Amino acid sequence: MLEPDIRKELHIKAKEDQFYIRCVVRKDIWILDYFLSMILEPKYGSQRNWIEQWINGENHKTAFLAFWGNELVGFLCLKNNPDKNYLKISTMFILTKFRHRGRGSFFLEVAENLTRVYCKSELSVTVSEKDENTIGFFRSKDFKVIDKLKDKYQKGTTEVVLKKILK
Ligand SMILES: CC(C)(COP(=O)(O)OP(=O)(O)OC[C@H]1O[C@@H](n2cnc3c(N)ncnc32)[C@H](O)[C@@H]1OP(=O)(O)O)[C@@H](O)C(=O)NCCC(=O)NCCS
Repeated sequence: MLEPDIRKELHIKAKEDQFYIRCVVRKDIWILDYFLSMILEPKYGSQRNWIEQWINGENHKTAFLAFWGNELVGFLCLKNNPDKNYLKISTMFILTKFRHRGRGSFFLEVAENLTRVYCKSELSVTVSEKDENTIGFFRSKDFKVIDKLKDKYQKGTTEVVLKKILK
């Protein structure tokens, strides 16, 4: 997780005036609850403990929300386990109406920059085999499939592990 002071200060302003991303704070709880129930739990089953991890940085997680003005654009969660030599994209999601405008690529840039900040050289992500578009996105960004895991989140579902070695 990021140190508390950095978490407070981090507010990444993108090139366009209205688009920005910032760390999750406790007052975001209702957004996080909605996001978890509507988007993640149908894919991964009940994961109520994730909300506290996103807010408190438990389990080495740092979570970000992206906005266009007041509108929610997407969610990014990174996991920096000190025992691993890579940074993990724990969750990355751009709302449908904001896709294909470079937002996912921007999230990836943030993840890659933070990988370097943590003095790591690899970025990893796990995607359900059913999410062909998401796998296509990461492959187009030089991620390579390194493993497949059966029944990790949901019984009967295979997860694809992808990794990118940063230059
Ligand atoms: C994957 C995702 C983050 C991409 O976000 P995005 O904002 O649309 O991405 P960008 O606009 O930056 O980049 C899209 C580019 O990636 C590449 N790309 C995307 N999907 C691709 C595919 N299936 N095959 C090949 N290239 C692909 C293309 O170059 C594409 O450019 P285009 O839009 O001009 O065609 C978004 O689709 C998403 O959130 N999907 C759901 C992810 C999910 O389920 N997350 C939960 C588990 S972690």
